Amino acid sequence: MSQNKTRYIEIENISFGYGKGPDLFNNLSLGLDKDEITVLLGENGSGKTTLAKLVMGMLGPRSGRIMLDGVSVEDLALGEVGMRVGYLFQNPDHQIFGATLIDQLLWSFEFLGEDIDLAKGKAEELIRLFGLEGSRDTYPYYLSLGEKRILALASVLMRSPDYLILDEPTSSLDEERAGVLKEVLKNLSERGIGMLIITHDYDFPEGLAHRTIVLSEGRACNG
Ligand SMILES: Nc1ncnc2c1ncn2[C@@H]1O[C@H](COP(=O)(O)OP(=O)(O)OP(=O)(O)O)[C@@H](O)[C@H]1O
Ligand SMILES: [Mg+2]
Repeated sequence: MSQNKTRYIEIENISFGYGKGPDLFNNLSLGLDKDEITVLLGENGSGKTTLAKLVMGMLGPRSGRIMLDGVSVEDLALGEVGMRVGYLFQNPDHQIFGATLIDQLLWSFEFLGEDIDLAKGKAEELIRLFGLEGSRDTYPYYLSLGEKRILALASVLMRSPDYLILDEPTSSLDEERAGVLKEVLKNLSERGIGMLIITHDYDFPEGLAHRTIVLSEGRACNG
């Protein structure tokens, strides 16, 4: 791959720290593309989730910039970033607020006044794919952590993003669901959807990752 190629997401020389605290990153650069699955590893507190939030525009860098498909994330509304980049939060409670499973999967379509019938078909497909049929009548708040994570991921996929940032997607998933997830991600990747997978699970990315990056002391190194 050419060094000069412009990636779908370009993190360019960013520095960031919380509040008046020291820099967590200093001059960090990283390119992420749609034809790759990148795995991001790093110790607790190394800044993986922070980096994801910077890419999503939920946090702003102290210096440097993040480009999404040639446009600075700072110039985009959160919703505009979210339409292109699907973000699975490390804590699924932060993105589950529907009163039912179907409600959760359809709310954004209802909110945006989009075609609900089309979305319903897609929701049913995802419910089947992820084996969520048994959770239909449970208030999503009461689902198990693993079920919540899968439901949160299904909601993210409902929007058909170009790129996915998945923060600890396998955390609290049983082996069967992790296997289904791996197949789903492989399939999405083959359809040209890029992804950044943040994980502590060293086995999961096997046969999936095109490259591995380790975040350590504010720097991103090839793993
Ligand atoms: N809102 C915040 N305000 C102040 N400091 C924060 C905030 N969020 C995170 N931090 C600090 O920033 C550092 C990086 O946190 P972050 O959550 O990005 O790490 P991480 O690599 O995702 O860790 P983990 O593997 O545990 O998920 C940590 O030291 C954390 O305490
Ligand atoms: Mg984290």
